[in-house]
Amino acid sequence: MSSSPPQAIHDFLNTLEKSTTEREMVKMTLSDPRKKPSEWKNVYIKPVQLKSGYRLNFVYRYSAKDITKNYSVEESVKLVNQMLQHDFYKADLFLSSASHHLSVTKNEKAILSVKKSLPREMPNLLHNKEKKRFVMADNNVYLHSLGITSTDGKVKSDKQDKFRQINKYVEIVDSIVKEAQLPNHFRIADMGSGKGYLTFALYDYLKNALHLSPEMTGVELRPELVEKCNTLATEAAFEHLHFTTGSIDTAELSSPDMLIALHACDIATDQAIARGIQANSKVIICAPCCHKQIRKQLHPSNDLKSITRFGILEERQAEILTDTIRALILEAYGYKTKVFEFISTEHTPKNVLIVGIQTMKQEKPNAVVLERIRQLKALFNIGYHELERILGLHNEI
Ligand SMILES: C[S@@+](CC[C@H](N)C(=O)[O-])C[C@H]1O[C@@H](n2cnc3c(N)ncnc32)[C@H](O)[C@@H]1O
Repeated sequence: MSSSPPQAIHDFLNTLEKSTTEREMVKMTLSDPRKKPSEWKNVYIKPVQLKSGYRLNFVYRYSAKDITKNYSVEESVKLVNQMLQHDFYKADLFLSSASHHLSVTKNEKAILSVKKSLPREMPNLLHNKEKKRFVMADNNVYLHSLGITSTDGKVKSDKQDKFRQINKYVEIVDSIVKEAQLPNHFRIADMGSGKGYLTFALYDYLKNALHLSPEMTGVELRPELVEKCNTLATEAAFEHLHFTTGSIDTAELSSPDMLIALHACDIATDQAIARGIQANSKVIICAPCCHKQIRKQLHPSNDLKSITRFGILEERQAEILTDTIRALILEAYGYKTKVFEFISTEHTPKNVLIVGIQTMKQEKPNAVVLERIRQLKALFNIGYHELERILGLHNEI
């Protein structure tokens, strides 16, 4: 153990440089920010092999986002040195069979300790280059049939965006499934499944990548789409994926554990959410589409009147209110609810996802949350929201 600054920092930086030259580095972190509160939480560093050569990949972890940058070894050593002087008190470097831990004290003393370890698995540098795909294009029957891939199994150039969206969607649902801790065998209802792009991709991922046993039903108004999707599900040998012709509000369904409604029109989203709440679904996911119901009622008589003066802003305000009330109603029924953008706005403006995960079963909605909704409606002079009407709350709120 050595303990006199800057020798310990020098030793640490020399080891960092040597371990990269000898391709021994596994990973490194800089932590314990010097300034409190700090804009960074920590910095995570790993080696990557890029076209330009061996580089160190820095992930700067901020509280609400990560920023990633790649540097040469020489630049990296300089940066780590600077960050140890100005930004962090701790650095931990993991090599193939040892780890080096540097700790700088508030009076600028540095302590370096080295621990031997059993051989660690080395990172796959080439693998780091590739973005993880949740849906594979090769030999994919449904992607080919839906026109995303050509006969050689490659994603068509004009379908790259769609393929990215499908992957992003599956990635998001993957994290929701894990957070909700759904059982191995569970039922999913996809309301307004349309041509089935996302339905097929999600079923495929859950069944063949996660090895779960989902039973999935797509509900769709248009019989010709239902027929096509059922034929395709048979071709793809997706035994427990079925499509049924019907309307979201009345289709016969066994209580789904997960209810999904992506871009179902206007109040069809409310009908879907209501069915999820009434069935006690563990997870409810919806991406609202057009918003007409609240817009017609938006007549604030107070200072907020100016917000509705300009058409496009009035439309956005109506969307915000509609989706806020949906999210609050989910909360009132015991769902931990998140609202976020799930694909970039350059692909579609309809990119808000409302996700509710049931954390407690609640027969009666929470009165405090209902009061919040009542106040919000009063502010904008809104008579009723379709979701509260379906759930019979409109007289309560
Ligand atoms: C914009 S598409 C979205 C399809 C798919 N969910 C997706 O995101 O790719 C909306 C679909 O919902 C269907 N739909 C709309 N209202 C419905 C309702 N009340 N019941 C069943 N299906 C409905 C439409 O026929 C259409 O196929």
